[in-house]
Amino acid sequence: MALTYFKRYRMETDLVGRDLSPIVPQGYRLLAWDPALLESHAQTKYLSFRNELDSNVFPCLGELTGCLRLMEEISSKPNFLPEATWLAARELSDDGRLEYCGTIQGIRARDGYGSIQNLGIVPVHRDRGVGTALLFRALQGFRQAGLRRVSLEVTVENDGAVRLYQRHGFVPVKTVFKAAEVVFS
Ligand SMILES: CC(C)(COP(=O)(O)OP(=O)(O)OC[C@H]1O[C@@H](n2cnc3c(N)ncnc32)[C@H](O)[C@@H]1OP(=O)(O)O)[C@@H](O)C(=O)NCCC(=O)NCCS
Repeated sequence: MALTYFKRYRMETDLVGRDLSPIVPQGYRLLAWDPALLESHAQTKYLSFRNELDSNVFPCLGELTGCLRLMEEISSKPNFLPEATWLAARELSDDGRLEYCGTIQGIRARDGYGSIQNLGIVPVHRDRGVGTALLFRALQGFRQAGLRRVSLEVTVENDGAVRLYQRHGFVPVKTVFKAAEVVFS
């Protein structure tokens, strides 16, 4: 085990006057927060993060029990924002069965800010616009809750995520370092 410092950006964007309508890829749909979906969010978060850089930065993301605990913590906060918390699902057949494939959660932060907690898409569903659709749906929710700006933190080495956020108006406003114990094999 070695203590490693991960460089992260705090990024922010403005919500005022923007068209935030999500374009949901064909065959997918976005499900609003419902406490009955807590375990599905946790499972989807686990499948999205388990082999990714951020499971080194936040080891709980690499374990199903850790993701369950995290979802319980986020959704029980007094400033939890159901409006900015969405689950992406793919329709499997005409009988309405769904496969969950992405998750995003939001909370109300200080001074009119919203804060994105985690955005994750299960690997086989990436590069189809599902992440962008979830991001926009959450941004809409923050604005519906009366917030004007949204922040998030992203690991600088996470190129795909940084590109996604920059493409949709997020700019780095601060660099922070997160210490984590990393196991080298
Ligand atoms: C970062 C992440 C959320 C992006 O999700 P995604 O669903 O792949 O995002 P999108 O599909 O909207 O965009 C990803 C890429 O696909 C492209 N794309 C979007 N729709 C497309 C389509 N219909 N056809 C082809 N390409 C498409 C985008 O232009 C983008 O290209 P780029 O990588 O060159 O910038 C996902 O990779 C992930 O879950 N990573 C692991 C967890 C993580 O690190 N999360 C971020 C924490 S801060």
